[in-house]
Amino acid sequence: MDTGSGILWKSGVIGLAGRVCPVWLAGALEGRIRMWLQDPREVLGGFLKPGYTAVDIGCGPGFFTTAMAEMVGDEGRVIAADLQPAMLERMMAKAGRMNLASRIVPHQCQPDRLGITEKADFALAFWMVHEVPDRDGFFAEVAAMLKDSGCFLMVEPRMHVSSSGFQESVERARRAGLKMSREVKVRMSRGALFTRGQPGVLG
Ligand SMILES: C[S@@+](CC[C@H](N)C(=O)[O-])C[C@H]1O[C@@H](n2cnc3c(N)ncnc32)[C@H](O)[C@@H]1O
Repeated sequence: MDTGSGILWKSGVIGLAGRVCPVWLAGALEGRIRMWLQDPREVLGGFLKPGYTAVDIGCGPGFFTTAMAEMVGDEGRVIAADLQPAMLERMMAKAGRMNLASRIVPHQCQPDRLGITEKADFALAFWMVHEVPDRDGFFAEVAAMLKDSGCFLMVEPRMHVSSSGFQESVERARRAGLKMSREVKVRMSRGALFTRGQPGVLG
């Protein structure tokens, strides 16, 4: 089966981003062990409500996307964004099997631009920020996509991101106009919740 990763290498998508999680590793982002470690309802339950517009940035194979779609209900929707078309295809196939596809809008990003124009109640970037080449531009786009009352959850893997590396991302997010409201505990991870800062005042 062609997972698409070869096409991505040839097209330069992986080359451009440098360290993007390849599609052949997608299976490692799903399954029972991960569900036990990082149950999406435990991780996200407090942040999502029926009717919300939510964004799963760097959705990969959709481990969080489908759970988010269940939580926002029929009146809500989830914009599932990823750089790699093969990840979006895999995520939508899973959503179809779970009868959730109508609540999910797939969106292909560019390595240096998310390009999401919707305003979101909640945005998630789970284990993906360390793969983004231009984090300042990334956080500026996240700040711009949040509604005034919206919030953003960044979770990074401890195995790839040190405490100081995570703090650097928090600082970059702050400079982009996001205000860290609290630390969020997730197994094997470092997490922080942000709101939008006051307009014109850096978080
Ligand atoms: C390690 S995977 C995590 C997937 C998912 N968030 C999860 O926790 O299961 C990182 C994902 O981020 C995507 N990604 C990396 N850089 C990106 C960018 N600049 N814009 C959008 N997606 C990106 C990759 O294609 C990959 O699917």
